Amino acid sequence: MNEGIISCYPTAGAERPLAGVYLDTPLPDQGRCGPFVYANYVTSLDGRISVPTPAGGQTVPGNIANPRDWRLLEELAGPADLLLSSGRYLRELNAGQTSDILPVGTGEALSDIRAFRARRGLAPQPDVAVLSVSLDFAVPDQLLEQGRRVIVITGSTPDERRVQALERTGVKVIALPGTQQPGGEALAALLGRLGYRRIYAITGPYVMHTLITARVLDTLYLTTVHRIIGGSPFASICEGDLLSGTADFSLASLYVDAHGPDGCTQTFARYDLKY
Ligand SMILES: NC(=O)c1ccc[n+]([C@@H]2O[C@H](COP(=O)([O-])OP(=O)(O)OC[C@H]3O[C@@H](n4cnc5c(N)ncnc54)[C@H](OP(=O)(O)O)[C@@H]3O)[C@@H](O)[C@H]2O)c1
Repeated sequence: MNEGIISCYPTAGAERPLAGVYLDTPLPDQGRCGPFVYANYVTSLDGRISVPTPAGGQTVPGNIANPRDWRLLEELAGPADLLLSSGRYLRELNAGQTSDILPVGTGEALSDIRAFRARRGLAPQPDVAVLSVSLDFAVPDQLLEQGRRVIVITGSTPDERRVQALERTGVKVIALPGTQQPGGEALAALLGRLGYRRIYAITGPYVMHTLITARVLDTLYLTTVHRIIGGSPFASICEGDLLSGTADFSLASLYVDAHGPDGCTQTFARYDLKY
């Protein structure tokens, strides 16, 4: 983890440590639609962020996931007051198909991120909002035991028995009016009213589609591992209907890292939505 990364943009050529590259860059507390919303993905050179599992699910490809990208994923949780997750993720967590409880992680290597939060008066762990249409999941005890607020956001006509089952465990379920598919500007407005300022979306391509369609996503962080992996079905960072207009971003920063998986190079890019 000690090896440095090389800046390519906006300044070229300077080497710096990996640690702190995102944590040291302040994020605004206001975005285009209220709170500042940002997301982060690791992708292969052929644009894949997930591959099928033998059990019929989907997972982050093991041949592109790597500890240096993971460090940056954790850094991005540093300034967040809310993590946006999905029903699918909690189902995986409950089924033991992923062991990664939502960051910020424990351990000495991440102590600077915890200290960063403490200095800024942020709670040790960001709150969690779970987007779900089906409400077909249980909130894992691990999450509830961390003292963080967990809210579930769903469509306008949720299954009442599932709402009650979730609320019995101590989480609040909020139905967004006028839509079966929670997301878009209504979601950003709701989270703003609840007092959130910096929202880190750790969701997959379908939630990303609603955030992009409504131009709610302010900033996209993208780690590209320079490795082609193939795989079917194809899953990119944004899946769904063709957008009625393109969502345009500007490159804000770019670093190259010579220490990706098995010595592959990888790039760490930040793109800001063009207003
Ligand atoms: N490489 C990376 O950096 C990265 C990052 C994130 C995710 N991934 C991978 O991407 C794959 C797919 O993720 P995903 O299925 O969780 O995608 P997703 O787009 O995050 O989530 C889909 C889930 O979100 C819920 N949902 C709520 N509102 C929705 C809306 N308006 N539109 C669509 N879905 C909505 C649904 O939950 P209910 O079914 O409960 O209704 C649905 O199951 C996974 O394998 C994951 O590991 C990779």
